[in-house]
Amino acid sequence: MKLKTMGLDNALLKSLKDYIDTFDNKENNIISILHYAQDIFGYLPKDLQVYIARLTDLPASRINGIVTFYSFFNEKKMGKFRVDVCLGTACFVKGSEEIMKAFKDELNVDGDGLSEDGLFNVNSIRCLGACGIGPVVRINDKIYGHVEVDDVKDIIEFHKKELAEATK
Ligand code: FES
Repeated sequence: MKLKTMGLDNALLKSLKDYIDTFDNKENNIISILHYAQDIFGYLPKDLQVYIARLTDLPASRINGIVTFYSFFNEKKMGKFRVDVCLGTACFVKGSEEIMKAFKDELNVDGDGLSEDGLFNVNSIRCLGACGIGPVVRINDKIYGHVEVDDVKDIIEFHKKELAEATK
């Protein structure tokens, strides 16, 4: 069976196939299989979903439905820090679009929102339920309120330092 796997690491694909082969009932274990795939690849791109679909005899649309339904699965490459900039109405009128632009510019993000250094993903989000302190930005579990464009660089540096400390 010839599969289009667009530059995905062959050793990791083999490891995934071996893992899938350990299950008699692949359908019942699809969540575990997807978790395993995400653990070793870091994310679940479309080609990888098709590969899993073929090896599990499940429709690719079904795999994609599961991946997009659960927030713990990612189709895009993820950095260490997920930056969610709230573009809900209350934050938007207080200038959150400028904050979003500042994060993107400062981090040199690509079309998928991944920073040049691979550490940050920048996403927009609709209302974090903290409208009173807008513009609001969430980085992983940390919430920043009343964010201004001038704060963006310091916020990024804070998280980079935090990561450097954690990996010392
Ligand atoms: S609109 Fe941003 S927190 Fe509600």
